[in-house]
Amino acid sequence: MECQKLFPLLDKLEQTQDLTDEEFSLLIEDHSAELGKEISRRARILREKYYGKDVYIRGLIEFTNYCRNNCYYCGIRCGNARAQRYRLTREEILACCDTGYELGFRTFVLQGGEDAYFTDDRLTELIRAIKKSHPDCALTLSVGEREQDSYEKLFEAGADRYLLRHETADKAHYESLHPPELSHEHRLKCLHALKTIGYQVGCGMMTGSPGQTTACLIKDLRLLQELQPEMVGIGPFIPHHDTPLAGCQPGTAGLTLRLLSIIRLLLPQVLLPATTALGTIDPGGREKGLMAGANVLMPNLSPVTVRRQYALYDNKICLGEEGAECLRCLSKRVSSTGYRIVKDRGDHPGFKGKEGP
Ligand code: 5AD
Ligand code: FES
Repeated sequence: MECQKLFPLLDKLEQTQDLTDEEFSLLIEDHSAELGKEISRRARILREKYYGKDVYIRGLIEFTNYCRNNCYYCGIRCGNARAQRYRLTREEILACCDTGYELGFRTFVLQGGEDAYFTDDRLTELIRAIKKSHPDCALTLSVGEREQDSYEKLFEAGADRYLLRHETADKAHYESLHPPELSHEHRLKCLHALKTIGYQVGCGMMTGSPGQTTACLIKDLRLLQELQPEMVGIGPFIPHHDTPLAGCQPGTAGLTLRLLSIIRLLLPQVLLPATTALGTIDPGGREKGLMAGANVLMPNLSPVTVRRQYALYDNKICLGEEGAECLRCLSKRVSSTGYRIVKDRGDHPGFKGKEGP
């Protein structure tokens, strides 16, 4: 199909935030540069309508790579005996936040594997300490699947947001990427619980993961429509050499960029990061992501000494740079797109604020 014939679909998606499955599949499967250009142009117009030229930064603190799970794609899966495990101390984590604050970060993301050491008591204490030092900052957790009462305690302690990628909305595909003890139902149950509790929620999927079809991606888009998350984190699948999926093909920047734009048209106000995985698969990937509708970057604030050990996939970028250096590099990259990094919590515009603990 000539891709200009697809432009009316973009009008429809913009006007109704919806398309039929067949229409979505035409957009997902068209690889032409012409469609790519037009869809990112429209995505940019929308992101600028709600966010102007601003780019929000989130300081990512990868605080533990111990993980009880054994996802087939992930380098820190418990089955990877070659992963060197580490866990930051409370003091190291607080120091990352202090450094980040000085650099202008107003959101911190505590991300880690599912590490049993971090009980509700330890995590709530940590959350309280961070919020006490930096009451004007938002705190995001990304620590995987827990039970509802645990999510409630963490929220009451002061956590504002939660990232839990759904990975894929197709049950059979989910089961092909995860061992039997992980269930698609529980993943979705967690996401719904987080929403109900009042977190600003981020979900998302890997693009181009092994076995992913257009039908899977359409289900992902339907899940976004249903859940209406405040954030959507997507990035290409990149094989890790010590995992069962080591020999699989990586995802592409092209598909990831097209999906970023589709998601911007589908959820116009959503917070959308241009991810490190996108910058890994393509050296200009994050800049291209911003030009395709993304409005968030998540630079690494973890101590340089542990960066290499938080290896979810191979060839991850920004491993050698301290927070300050990485931010300088990133600021230049952002300037090249005509956008600018701002010192702001960057809440979702629909977010009404949270009562203090
Ligand atoms: N390639 C790309 N992304 C990955 N993740 C985990 N392993 C990989 C990989 N090999 C993503 C998952 C997870 C997030 C923290 O990192 O989507 O939710
Ligand atoms: Fe991190 Fe360039 S963005 S070093």
